[in-house]
Amino acid sequence: MPNAIPNRAIVLFGATGFTGRLVLAEARRRGLSPVLAGRNEAALKELAESAGGAEIRVGDPERAASLEGIFEGAGVVINCTGPFLRLGEPVLAAAIAQGAHYLDTTGEQEWIRRAVERHSAEAERRGLTAVPAHAFEYAPGDCAARIAIESTPGAVSLEVFNRAEGFGTSRGTKKSALEAMRLPTLSLVAGELVAERTAAHRATVRFPDDERHRVGISFGGGEVLSARRHGAMIREARTYLVVPEAAAFVLPTLTRIAIPLLDTPVGAWLERRIDAGSFGPGPERERQPWWIQARVRTSSGAGRRLTVSGRDIYGVTAVIAVSGACALLEGRALRAGVVSSAQAFDPRSVLAELEPHGATWREDPL
Ligand SMILES: NC(=O)c1ccc[n+]([C@@H]2O[C@H](COP(=O)([O-])OP(=O)(O)OC[C@H]3O[C@@H](n4cnc5c(N)ncnc54)[C@H](OP(=O)(O)O)[C@@H]3O)[C@@H](O)[C@H]2O)c1
Repeated sequence: MPNAIPNRAIVLFGATGFTGRLVLAEARRRGLSPVLAGRNEAALKELAESAGGAEIRVGDPERAASLEGIFEGAGVVINCTGPFLRLGEPVLAAAIAQGAHYLDTTGEQEWIRRAVERHSAEAERRGLTAVPAHAFEYAPGDCAARIAIESTPGAVSLEVFNRAEGFGTSRGTKKSALEAMRLPTLSLVAGELVAERTAAHRATVRFPDDERHRVGISFGGGEVLSARRHGAMIREARTYLVVPEAAAFVLPTLTRIAIPLLDTPVGAWLERRIDAGSFGPGPERERQPWWIQARVRTSSGAGRRLTVSGRDIYGVTAVIAVSGACALLEGRALRAGVVSSAQAFDPRSVLAELEPHGATWREDPL
């Protein structure tokens, strides 16, 4: 029965997925016992047994009525069920309606925009905090952006670069990327959010201790959406994915051809291929390095870059999600509403939570 959840408990929705299992392991490592929730009762029971016992709750975002009461008594919901554009809204709405704080692991820009637009007022009214994308994408980038903007008086532009080496992706990441690719990228241009073709823009970046300039292609990152909350004078914001130089030349054309194909049988075929593929990367993911750089400029071109680096994108996601859930339970959220990571929490604290897991960050002038 729903009232079996002790008050202030964590409910992990999508516990059976690749990311959900890592979040569960991280919670257990800290002595927490989240309630395991999702659509598949048999898989949840099996997972609960393998974790030495846990309460389970069954509900399916594709049947919103089945989520009634599922978060009753919960303090916070961690949602790892994607694609979020397809499955996120009923879970977020249920969490808010049932009085729980919320965070999720989305990387889908349009889902973040929609969540803020449609659910922020109600969350605020109820004194609840919901943080979409409190994960590798886009918590470190958003925190880096806020710190860099705050320490650069007169900052007018933000660029965030994501780079990962030997990056193996989970089935869920591939499916969400496919879903997000159908939509244009949002960038901030002259103070307005503008829809652009993904990969339409290129920019170069240098990471500290790296001899080379790297090339990034534009994609829809979450940091763009919160940039003006971090600095009211920010007029331009774009997010970039660092890719091999040759790919940066081919991808603009390739995406122009490929994206319309996603709405034909080719899209359905691709999704079937992803479903038949591997669950996620093996243990080698723990060694895979990543870098995120927020670059902020004033109108004179001066500014600073804040670089966060570490290893293991999925492991870091689990650390960020569980740390965020603990902060929400402990009443450390800075505001109510649907907000970004660096609006919800002190950005330095979010980055500091990653340090025991090998992440470091540094600030340099441009
Ligand atoms: N922002 C980031 O840095 C970051 C990092 C990691 C993951 N993510 C995102 O997190 C999400 C999960 O990734 P993952 O690797 O864990 O994926 P996954 O292994 O495919 O797991 C997806 C989870 O969602 C559930 N689910 C899938 N389709 C469903 C449906 N139609 N109805 C109800 N439940 C459904 C699955 O339940 P079943 O077990 O019943 O199938 C499973 O629990 C993805 O959107 C991914 O992009 C983002």
